[in-house]
Amino acid sequence: MPTLQSLAARFPNDFLFGVATAAYQIEGAAKKDGRGPSIWDAFSKMPGRVYKQHSGDIACDHYHLWESDLDLIKSLGVDAYRFSIAWPRILPDGRGPVNERGLDFYDRLIDGMVARGLKVYPTLYHWDLPLTLAADGGWTARSTAEAFAEYTDIVVRRLGDRMDALATINEPWCICHLSHLYGIHAPGEKSREAFAAAVHTLNLAHGLSVQAARAAQPDLPLGTVLNAYSIYPASNAPEDMAASERAFRFHNDIFMSPIFNGVYHDDILENFGSMMPIESGDLAIINQPLDWWGLNYYTPWRISEDLASETGYPKAVANPPKDDVPITDIGWEVDEDGLSDLLKALYQRYDLPPVYVTENGACYNEEPESGVVRDTRRTDYLEKHLAACADALTADIPLKGYFLWSLMDNFEWAEGYKMRFGIVHVDYSTQVRTLKNSGKWYRDLVGAHRADR
Ligand code: NOJ
Repeated sequence: MPTLQSLAARFPNDFLFGVATAAYQIEGAAKKDGRGPSIWDAFSKMPGRVYKQHSGDIACDHYHLWESDLDLIKSLGVDAYRFSIAWPRILPDGRGPVNERGLDFYDRLIDGMVARGLKVYPTLYHWDLPLTLAADGGWTARSTAEAFAEYTDIVVRRLGDRMDALATINEPWCICHLSHLYGIHAPGEKSREAFAAAVHTLNLAHGLSVQAARAAQPDLPLGTVLNAYSIYPASNAPEDMAASERAFRFHNDIFMSPIFNGVYHDDILENFGSMMPIESGDLAIINQPLDWWGLNYYTPWRISEDLASETGYPKAVANPPKDDVPITDIGWEVDEDGLSDLLKALYQRYDLPPVYVTENGACYNEEPESGVVRDTRRTDYLEKHLAACADALTADIPLKGYFLWSLMDNFEWAEGYKMRFGIVHVDYSTQVRTLKNSGKWYRDLVGAHRADR
């Protein structure tokens, strides 16, 4: 293992180190100051959907504790903070009257970041769709994409002047595959039709949002955040190789080709095109020039033909890890090479702008013992994945920064509060935050990088 100094020295002076969170996972205050309900408020209250029916009602109470949370981020010495803006705080019904108190919250938060010298990296949509829009078809309805562009315009006009970069949508794969095909995330649909419609609507929403943000503030660096998967054939057998290529198209290319090339692959059109509400001109709207994009990476997938699902496509979410490899407490294989391999593969396939790793981190559920959280496995994971980022830089990938997921333990969607990804431990009964040993390690790494500049 490299020393902290030698690892830090592998990153250029202007490389950004940050931490990441998302609104529904940390804010709580679900009904405060005029916030409307989102699909996650409704979904988390349905029996059997979320672990022990946990919800984001209180979460980390960041809505009230934001100042001390920003102090905590500042104390880590990081350059930047990635967070998300809750659409239902700004537009309680998704469109229509603006809730000024919702905008005020992010106004204060962003001012607080600027005052602390933290760069501002918001995401417009991290899964908390206003419930009213869901009643009108949610992400399967074209009108939601149009509403998203209106919301973008409102946010950028009020807050854009202090943003360093803006992302449209976080992880369209989760919003389409997990939420509309596999039924695991809100709104819990399991339908090929809903899935196909959501894919196109999401892609369109991204394009319309970029257009709206550019019109409102032309100099704001715009991007989007994808959880493209690092996909390997389970073996060299021709069926596994073919399944792996098909999986790449179904899980990655279904978003990347339209966004970066303005087309859908023939294979996608053949299987889903008739269910996608494509209108003439849509692909040109989706294919907006971007200043950057974000990759969220956690674990690789190994695809074999026998995992082909009812969709006719390999069902990678159920894919088992390779034998004898370390897994995290959520069951995901640890493989840092997947990160550098994926970046290289994607830059070979597509003409891409510069990239940030907008999320990377690990779930380990250690609790404090005498006030100390000894999460050595998380430190090990982070060290390996940061070395993989440095490898990508050596291979000339234009990697600009790394955001660790997550600043603190939080509401891990269908897994509730059971799964902990933070470098800060949260005691949900007291809201006490405790910096884990992995957090101290990250702070020291960032410090070593800064000292090097
Ligand atoms: C990606 C998502 O963006 C984030 O919300 C989630 O908590 C992490 N992955 C970990 O699963």
